[in-house]
Parts: sequence; C-alpha cells; structure tokens
Amino acid sequence: MSETNTAAILPAVGKDLELTTLPVPTPGPNDVLIRTAVTAVNPIDHVRQMFGFQVPAVPKVIGSDTTGTVVGVGAEAASTYKVGDRVVAVTDGFATGDNGHESYQTFAVAPTLTTAKLPDNFTFLEGSTVSVVAMTAGIIIFEGFKFSIPGAQEQSKPLPSNKPILLVWGGAGSVGSVTIQLARILGFTVFTTASPRHNERLQKLGAEVVVDYSDADAAVEKLLAAAGDRPIVYAVDAINDAKNTIPFVESILLKSAAATASSTTPELVHVKMLSEYKWKDGLTHTFINSTSIWTERRDVGEYIFRSGNLTSWLAEGKIVPPPARVVPGGLGGLQSALNQIKGGGVSGEKLVVEVA
Ligand SMILES: NC(=O)c1ccc[n+]([C@@H]2O[C@H](COP(=O)([O-])OP(=O)(O)OC[C@H]3O[C@@H](n4cnc5c(N)ncnc54)[C@H](OP(=O)(O)O)[C@@H]3O)[C@@H](O)[C@H]2O)c1
Repeated sequence: MSETNTAAILPAVGKDLELTTLPVPTPGPNDVLIRTAVTAVNPIDHVRQMFGFQVPAVPKVIGSDTTGTVVGVGAEAASTYKVGDRVVAVTDGFATGDNGHESYQTFAVAPTLTTAKLPDNFTFLEGSTVSVVAMTAGIIIFEGFKFSIPGAQEQSKPLPSNKPILLVWGGAGSVGSVTIQLARILGFTVFTTASPRHNERLQKLGAEVVVDYSDADAAVEKLLAAAGDRPIVYAVDAINDAKNTIPFVESILLKSAAATASSTTPELVHVKMLSEYKWKDGLTHTFINSTSIWTERRDVGEYIFRSGNLTSWLAEGKIVPPPARVVPGGLGGLQSALNQIKGGGVSGEKLVVEVA
C-alpha cells in the first residue's frame, strides 16, 4: 500500500504523544487492516502513557478502539470480510505489544475475533465508542460471573430465567452503560448509580432504577428499598474505587442477602486490580481482564463480535454506544484527549478523534 500511515507515538513513558510516519502494517491470516476513520480514547490509554503499562518498548503506538474501512484482509479473514467493509474493532496490540495492532494511527490491524461490521444506519462517529466496552461487558458477564454463553453446548451456569437484579455501580461510564444494555439483552433487571443528569438516558438504555451516588450511603439504602424483597445477588463495580465505590457495593450485596434471607452467595465483579483491599466475607469478588477475549475466552469474542451479534444489536438499537465527543485536531488531538481523561473531565461520554 502506497499511502502514508501517520501514527501518534509515545516516544518515552510519561512523555506527550508525537506524530510520525510508520510503515502500513500487514494483517495476519485472521486479521483485517482498517483505514481508521475515528479512534476513541480509553482510560487505560492514559495509564499506558504515564506508567508504561503494557508498553514493552518505546517508541510505542497505543490505542484500542477503532472504526473505519477495511483496506486489507488476511487469508482466513477473507471468508467474512472484504475490502470496503465498514467495521468497528478492538485492536489487540495491548496484549501482543505489536505497534501495527494499535489504533492511534491511520492504518491499524485488528483480529476478526474483535471486529464487527458497522450497520449501514451508523456513522463511523456513532460507532466509534462501542468496541472496547462491548468486549468488557461481555467479559464481565461471561468471565466475571461465569454465566454460560447462550447457545453454547455446555451450560454449566445458564443465564437465569427469572430476571434477577444486576447492579451496575457507575452506569454513566462507558463500561457501565454498555454493561447495562448487555445485561438487559441477556435477561437481567438492571439497577444502577449515576449523577442525576444521566437518569433519563440510562432509563432509556434499560435500567429499571437509577440512583444518585453522590451520597453513597443514601444510594445503598435507596437501591435496597427499590429491590424490596428481591435479592441483589449480582453486582458490577464499573468504577472500582477502594474508598468511594467498592465498600458500598459490598454493603448492598451483604445487606440484601441478610434482608431477603437469600441462600445464594452474592457475587461482585470489578474492573481494576485491588491488591491491597481487605474484602468483606460473605461474597465472591472477581477481577476481570477483558484481554482474556484473545486467550482463554475467545468464545466471548465469537459471541459478541464474530457471530454478528454486536452488529445486530447496534442495528436494532439494543445497544446504543456511549456518546462520542470529538476532540479536534485528528491524531494530533489525542494528547489533549488524554490530558482531559487524566483531569477526570469525562462524564457520560467518550472522547474520540477523527482521523480520516
Ligand atoms: N479490567 C478491564 O478489562 C477493563 C476494561 C475496560 C475498562 N476498564 C476500567 O473501567 C473503568 C471505567 O472505564 P470507562 O471507560 O467506563 O470510564 P469512563 O466512561 O471514563 O467513566 C466516567 C464515569 O465514571 C462515573 N463515576 C465516577 N465516579 C463514580 C462513582 N463514585 N460512582 C459512580 N460512578 C462514578 C462518572 O459518572 P457520572 O457522569 O454519573 O458522574 C463518569 O460518567 C476504568 O477504570 C477503566 O480503566 C477495565
């Protein structure tokens, strides 16, 4: 390919991104090469930049969320994709270390396992925020809680049929909002916490109860009151703060078990490592790492992406991606977006840059 691949590289850990030109990467047999239209910025990208997490060597391209047009197809990917397809994808350079498999560049390689066609009724911008969080939501439900994937031969823990409550603490965030929607698709009743300005949006996405978290003790009592005699057995902490969120999620699960005399051990799934945290007894707690989608949980990638489910859910409005806020400047705007994430200035939206 003769076109130029402009990339935003991390020249050294802790330094600002710089624009440079890199060779156009080559897709492997099960990969597609995407000409990036929009790439989104995730909180982990900031961690990679500032602390060198999953940065085996510099200079390093980073970034995981991409949407754009397929311009190259690996031999085995050719049965599913062709040049010209519009796709959303999670690139896997976070796991492999390969610069060509990162999204902050004009041309990026993504595995078909985490690539989905973008429905015709979606612009690239509208689809740009969904991939990483759809992957994370799938891993939360199927790896965190260990529910069996619908249609899988072995149903060791089938999805419950009685619409149990699943609490998502932090529903306004990108992970939270897509977890709400996937949980609804899979038959859960969803309770969540968010700032009041997000109430209407989260109810439209399917949350039955939305509670303000600004007074967390009050939020615990409101959630328990809303549940009444229904036990809250499943909870996701999509924020994961040892002081401000986890203790309250634990509290809800334990109080609910006591109040409803539930015999099921409550389960808490969380998204960040908390190695120092003293977990309360009486519940299970499971940290998920969504990169397991490329290793031991490839079945989740098949179910969410390769099967066409994500494409259908988007087309049918069953999954509405987090709102995208464009940071100007194309790839040159990524540093400003990362600075905003660092400053905590993101609420109910995802920062993206338009590349082409
Ligand atoms: N382990 C994994 O594999 C994995 C994968 C993806 C992401 N993550 C992690 O998951 C976390 C969330 O990611 P994200 O992309 O969803 O972040 P995000 O969208 O940037 O999160 C911002 C949201 O957090 C909410 N929030 C902040 N403090 C809160 C609190 N005390 N209670 C409830 N909500 C609160 C805010 O809600 P309001 O607007 O309502 O104030 C805001 O909308 C990040 O730490 C990320 O690194 C982990």
